[in-house]
Parts: sequence; structure tokens; C-alpha cells
Amino acid sequence: MQKLEMLYEGKAKKVYRTDNPDLLWVEYKDDATAFNGEKKGTIVGKGVLNNLISAHFFQMLAQEGVANHFVELINEREQIVKALDIIQVEVIVRNLAAGSMAKRLGMEEGTDLGGPVVDYCYKSDELGDPLINDDHIRALKLATPEQVQTMRETALKVNQILTEYMKGKNIILVDYKLEFGIHKGQVLLGDEISPDTCRFWDSRTMEKLDKDRFRRDLGQVEDAYKEVYRRLTGKEVNL
Ligand code: TMP
Repeated sequence: MQKLEMLYEGKAKKVYRTDNPDLLWVEYKDDATAFNGEKKGTIVGKGVLNNLISAHFFQMLAQEGVANHFVELINEREQIVKALDIIQVEVIVRNLAAGSMAKRLGMEEGTDLGGPVVDYCYKSDELGDPLINDDHIRALKLATPEQVQTMRETALKVNQILTEYMKGKNIILVDYKLEFGIHKGQVLLGDEISPDTCRFWDSRTMEKLDKDRFRRDLGQVEDAYKEVYRRLTGKEVNL
């Protein structure tokens, strides 16, 4: 397969066209942003770690019957995915209160929610990804009710699979964000699943093993991402 011109550069990835119109070539960057791009930095090796971690999760989810865009790894930083028409909705699943939910509702971080809470956000940098509901999604024509139902059901299935899997790695899946898109009429899980898009807490020490270390200037950001990779694969990565 051939890597052709760059189609899009996002905050964490570059996306290239390939000689197959159904497939895209994704390159993960070390750039990190937070708070809608206000905070910027570099996490050395993040591109490699997130590419490998996300590939690991997507392969595992495909085996569990969750249709997704992942096709193959090209190298440590690059992967091939199915081209999706991205639905402009971020689907967030929360198991413990943290981050924006804890702040907005005055809850202590770590409070058990007694079952998953699903939030939707409108993917809009201009508006700062505002929280929306099913009716807003319909009114904004972001997705059909059937597509919303598929996204919700898939997000909850992913929660069951990943929560159990991470428990076996001594990691609590606190919350995470998913994105979906349409490929040949089918809703597929897309984007990435990585320490950039999830909150992972060490279940023994409650130490944060995710991007909150960057957002909150907690230090040892690279080490946390490496630790997640090590727990998932049992392997070390040479950066
Ligand atoms: P939040 O608590 O800031 O709303 O974040 C919820 C989850 O979504 C958390 O695991 C981090 C992830 N997330 C993203 O992947 N991208 C984003 O832009 C934001 C704000 C959160």
C-alpha cells in the first residue's frame, strides 16, 4: 500500500490518503494538547505508545465482536484504518466521577456512579465540545436515532469488555471517550483508545496512568503511558 498526500493534521495524529480509497494511513504524533488546545506540549514517545496501545485495544475489541476501523499496524507510529465519515459526536462513558463531570456536578473524584453514565459532546473546537443530549443530536442532524442507539449500545459493550480486561491488569477504567463513523453504510468504532482518551487508575495505588498527568502537571507522563503498554502486552518499548 502506498502512503499518498496528507489529508488532515489533527492535534495528535496526521491522516494520509492511500492508493486504496477505502483505507487511510494514520501517523501518531508526540504532540499533546489539553483544554481545547490552550495547553500544548510534547510527550516523548507518546505517538509510538498510543499507536501500539490503540491497535492492541481495537484488535481485542474486534475479536469480541465490536466492529471497528482498525486494519493493520504499519510500524511503531503508523497504522492503516478504514476511511470513516466521522459522526461529530464524542461518546463518553464514565464509571467513576472524574474530570468535567466531577467538577460540573460537585462530586468528589472517584465517586462510584453505580453503573455507567453516558455523555455526548458535540465535536466542535470552536464551541469547546459542549455537552449535548439525544434531542440535540437530532436537532443538529449529527446522527439518526438508530445511529445514536448503535453508538450507545456499542459504547456500553466496550465498557463491559474493557473494564473486565483492565481489571486483570490492575487498572481501573474510570472513563473514556469514543468516536464513531460510517463506512459503507455501517457504523464503526473509530479514532483511538489510549491514555490520551481514557482515564486509567492503578487499582492498588490509585495512581493516574493517563493524560491527566499532562493536564494537571503531575510529571512522569511518559512513564505512565509506558506502564500502560507494559501491563497490556508484557513488553517494553524502546523509545
Ligand atoms: P472529561 O472528564 O474532561 O469530560 O473527560 C472524559 C473522558 O474523555 C476522559 O477519559 C478524557 C477523554 N477526553 C478526550 O478523549 N478528549 C477530550 O477532548 C476530552 C475533554 C476528554
